[in-house]
Amino acid sequence: MAVRVDEESGAQVVPWRVTSEIALPRERYFDRSFYELEKEKLWPHVWQMACRLEEIPNPGDFVEYEIVDQSILVVRQADGTVKAFENACRHRATQLAVDRGRFRGGQIVCPFHGWRWNLDGTSSFVFHEEQFAPECLRPEDLRLRECLVETWGGCVWINMDRAAPPLREALAPVASVLDGLGVANMRVKYWKETILNANWKMAQEAFFEGYHVPQTHPQLWEVGAEATMPAVYRTFENGHGQFLGGSEFAEMTAETFIEMMRRLWEGQDAMTLEREVRLFEGLRHKVPAGENFTMAAVQALYDYAEGAGIPMPPLENAGLWGGGVFLFPNFMMLPMWANALSYRSRPYRDDPEWCRFEVWSLETYPAGDEPEGQPLVERYAKDDAEHWGLIPRQDFSNIERQQRGLHTRNFQAMRLATEWDSLITNMHRELDRYLAR
Ligand code: FES
Ligand SMILES: [Fe+2]
Repeated sequence: MAVRVDEESGAQVVPWRVTSEIALPRERYFDRSFYELEKEKLWPHVWQMACRLEEIPNPGDFVEYEIVDQSILVVRQADGTVKAFENACRHRATQLAVDRGRFRGGQIVCPFHGWRWNLDGTSSFVFHEEQFAPECLRPEDLRLRECLVETWGGCVWINMDRAAPPLREALAPVASVLDGLGVANMRVKYWKETILNANWKMAQEAFFEGYHVPQTHPQLWEVGAEATMPAVYRTFENGHGQFLGGSEFAEMTAETFIEMMRRLWEGQDAMTLEREVRLFEGLRHKVPAGENFTMAAVQALYDYAEGAGIPMPPLENAGLWGGGVFLFPNFMMLPMWANALSYRSRPYRDDPEWCRFEVWSLETYPAGDEPEGQPLVERYAKDDAEHWGLIPRQDFSNIERQQRGLHTRNFQAMRLATEWDSLITNMHRELDRYLAR
């Protein structure tokens, strides 16, 4: 759909744009022309998380990052830096590599007629070059087309728009918040994905608020009551957002605290892991009655980490645990202790009503003892109880129902809570800014 231009102001008008803080037009989640506008105006111009650094530890390692109909190769260079190239041969467009792997001998080789490039994208071989007109083979034309690439937070970020602002500017101010929680030290414990019959935004928004906790996750509500509902929501420039956990954790009894941590570990094996649960259980009878158990548990965790050589974030940032940080347009981190949960949501098969939703559980290892490489992504059905914990299965169970519900003829717009749904509105407002450009 072409963007309509307002006759009076000359400004571009985005279809189904957000005009209110409390209502979100349903077409934003399924309309093909809205989705095509995202393909044209959002994805080619926004910084996006392309892979984790552990995926490409050695020179020549590559990962293919796919977004809508585009494919980008992220390549580790001989000097340890990272470059990203459009995945198309400069001869007749054949994709140079798929999925992941290593370019042997430092050469990227086209599988069709064997043109070759060095890891930095410069041309190194054209078979029978005398067959081509010289103007076909200018070095600047032969060179692989680069995307902007930067690293932050243990990840590689790419931007196909070579005029885009630097990554840190685009991720401000929330990247600094996450820096204070040590996310760059974290490594992958598991990496899983599921395919959902829902728009990519719909899927991620299920994780933008704590309002759903009592109904969707009754087992957490039961034991932690208010503590499981984020208390503070903050929205920032650039479409980013943050919510903070309730402070009620601090008041919990030993029994409640340990039970809550056990349900988090068993329910998703992320944020709170077995390591912490065992440690907290060991304290159960050691903290004198009347003393604050949560404080004692945190202290014990810091003592343990110091002994084990595990870098911990400064204790004054502990207030951010149990909350989450959303980085526009499609990436999220929820740090706790020295661990985190991380999400990425992308359109799937170029269809507005399907998405690929990835989940990382991250943890911090003793310094110098980080594992080499990382687990590869594994895909499981959304209700696979053997591979997904109870918590993600509960979250996934509503997403497709919500997508189907949106098609109801007389349903026009979602009703949003002014504060608790503010991350959603803020994300959509930034999206509209991209779409209007
Ligand atoms: S298409 Fe790549 S060498 Fe011909
Ligand atoms: Fe949830």
